[in-house]
Amino acid sequence: MKANELRQKYIEFFVSHGHKQIPSASLIPENDPSVLFNTAGMQPLVPYLMGEEHPQGDKLVNYQKCVRTGDIDEVGDNTHLTFFEMLGNWSLGNYFKKESIEMSWEFLTADEWLGIDKGRLAVSVFAGDDTSEFDQESFDKWIELGVSESRIAKLGKEDNWWPAGGKNVGPQGPDAEIFYWTGESDAPEKFDAQDDQWVEIWNNVFMEFYRDKDGNVAELEKKNVDTGMGLERTVAVLQGKKSVYETEIFTGILNKIEELSNKKYEFVAGELGLDEKPACWEEDACSMTIIADHVRSAVMIMSDGVVPSNKDQGYVLRRLIRRAVRFGKKIGIEDAFTDEVAEVFIDEYKNIYVELGQKHNSIIDELRKEEEKFGKTLEKGERTFNKIFEKKGKIEGEDAFLLYTTYGFPLELTEEMAQEKGQDIDRKVFECEFIKHKDLSRAGSEQKFKGGLAEDSDETKKLHTATHLMHQALRNVLGDHVEQRGSNITAERLRFDFSHSEKVTIEQREEVERIVNEQVEKALPITCESMSVDEAQKLGAIGIFGDKYKGLDSVKVYTVGNDEVGVFSREICGGPHAQNTQELGKFKIKKEEASSAGIRRIKAVLLNE
Ligand code: ALA
Repeated sequence: MKANELRQKYIEFFVSHGHKQIPSASLIPENDPSVLFNTAGMQPLVPYLMGEEHPQGDKLVNYQKCVRTGDIDEVGDNTHLTFFEMLGNWSLGNYFKKESIEMSWEFLTADEWLGIDKGRLAVSVFAGDDTSEFDQESFDKWIELGVSESRIAKLGKEDNWWPAGGKNVGPQGPDAEIFYWTGESDAPEKFDAQDDQWVEIWNNVFMEFYRDKDGNVAELEKKNVDTGMGLERTVAVLQGKKSVYETEIFTGILNKIEELSNKKYEFVAGELGLDEKPACWEEDACSMTIIADHVRSAVMIMSDGVVPSNKDQGYVLRRLIRRAVRFGKKIGIEDAFTDEVAEVFIDEYKNIYVELGQKHNSIIDELRKEEEKFGKTLEKGERTFNKIFEKKGKIEGEDAFLLYTTYGFPLELTEEMAQEKGQDIDRKVFECEFIKHKDLSRAGSEQKFKGGLAEDSDETKKLHTATHLMHQALRNVLGDHVEQRGSNITAERLRFDFSHSEKVTIEQREEVERIVNEQVEKALPITCESMSVDEAQKLGAIGIFGDKYKGLDSVKVYTVGNDEVGVFSREICGGPHAQNTQELGKFKIKKEEASSAGIRRIKAVLLNE
C-alpha cells in the first residue's frame, strides 16, 4: 500500500458512502490567530463543527495538510514529522458513533478496500470518569463487529478524549481509536495500549460537547464525527516499515540527499531520537532525515504564501530552513542545496497540491535567499559559539542573544548546539533571559507557540518537581545506576533521559507512577539550600558530579520532604520548583522508549483534574 494509493482509496471509499470531497485548506488558519498552523484536519472545520452549515453538505472527506512544530526536536525518531497529511471524514450532525465505527472497520478490513487482517487490529474507547459517561455505544458496536473484549481497551480522558484531556477550549468529545499490531510475533490476544508495538492509526472523535474558556461544558446541538488518520504513519505500519523514512514517501528526497552529501542513508532502528543526545547526532542518518523533513515542511509552508521572517509562521519557516542547512553542513554538503531537495519534493507532490507547481519559482527563490543569508554567517557563528563555550563552559541567555543578532542564529539552534555539548538547559530560564535582552516582537509570537511564557511558568515548575520525584522513584525501582542524561520540560510534559539498558516493564512503570503519586498525596514541602558540592554529596544529593560543578563555590540543592516527614529526594539543581508536592496533580507516564544505546527516555504529564 503506497501513500498515493491509500490517499486515493480513502477518498474513494467515503465518496462511495455519500461524502463530498473538500479540498485541503491552507496550512495557515484563516480565522484563528491562536495557532500558527493547522495541526489537524478538523481545524479549518471548527465553525461547522459548531453548527454553521457547510456548503458541501453534512458528510465530508478530505486529505488535509498539517504542521506540528511542537515535534520539531523529535524529527528523526521514526514517527514524527513536522509536516504530514491527515486523512479525515466528518459527519456534521448526520451519522454518529455506530455508522462511523462501521465504516472505519469496513474500510480497514474489507478485501476490496485495505483488507487488513482483523487479528492485527485492536481498539480503545472512553472509560468514563466523574464528569463524563463510559462510551457504551462504541463499546457495543465493536463487540457487534466481532472485536473480542480483550482487544478493546477502556481508557481515560488523557487517552480517549479529543482534544486530549478534555480541557481545551472548543468542540470535543470521547473518541474511539484503532491500533495496528506492528510486532514480528503474532499479535497478543490482549490489547495493551502501553505496548508500543501497537500503533494508533485512526482516531474517531465523537464531538458532543463544547468547552468554553471558563471551563463550562455544554452539549452541542448537532453531534458530529471528526476522524483523523495520519497518512505517512499509516503507510509505514501497513508496509511493515519501522520508520516513515523507510517508505517510498521519502525515497526520492533521501536519494537526493545521499547524492549531495556522498553519504549513504542507513536506517538505525530505535537509535534515531534527537535533541539532547550527543550520541545520536553522530549518525548521518539523523541529519539526513532532519533535512528531508524540514525541507519538505518548508516547501509546503511557502506554498501557502509564507516567507522567512522573524515573526510567527515566518519564524518557524526560517528555523526549519536554517536547521536543514546546518545539518547539511554537518554531513559534508558544501554548497547551497535546499533548492535541489525541494525540487524533488515539488515534482513528486505537485499533482496532489497544485499550489506547489503554481508557487514553484518563488519557493525556490526564497529558499536560495534564506540559505545564502544564513550560510554566510553559520561558520562564523559556530566559531563564536565554540569560543564562548570554551571560555565559560556554558552558553547563557546573553550569548544566545548575541548569536541571534549578529549571526541570525535562532534561539533554538543555539540551545540545540549547547545540548550537543552536554549542557543541560532549563528551556524556560534560557528563554526568559533571551527575551529580556530583546525587544523584537517575538514575545507575541511565542504566545502562539504553546500557551506563552507567563502562563506556562507554573506548569513547568510543577513538571520540574515531578521530574525530581520520578528520578528518585526510578532509582528506587530500577536501581542506583539510574542517572539523569537529559531533561527537557515544556508547559505540557516532561521528558527525561536516563541511564538504563533495558526496556522499563509495564509493572515497573506503574510502580514508578505509584511512588510519585504517593509523594504528591503526602503533600511534601520542597526546600532549597545553597551549599558546597562536597556537602551536597555528603548529604546524598543526586546530580551530575564530575566536571560539571567544578570551580563553583556553591550549588543549590532542592529537597523534597524534610527530617520531620522524611526526605524523599535531594538533588542538585538550579530550580525553579513547586513549593509543595500537592500542587502537582496526578502523575502519569505517557511513553517509555530507547533514546540511544544504554539510555532510556520517558515522557510524562501531570493531570490537574
Ligand atoms: N481531530 C482528531 C485528531 O487529530 C481526529 O486526532
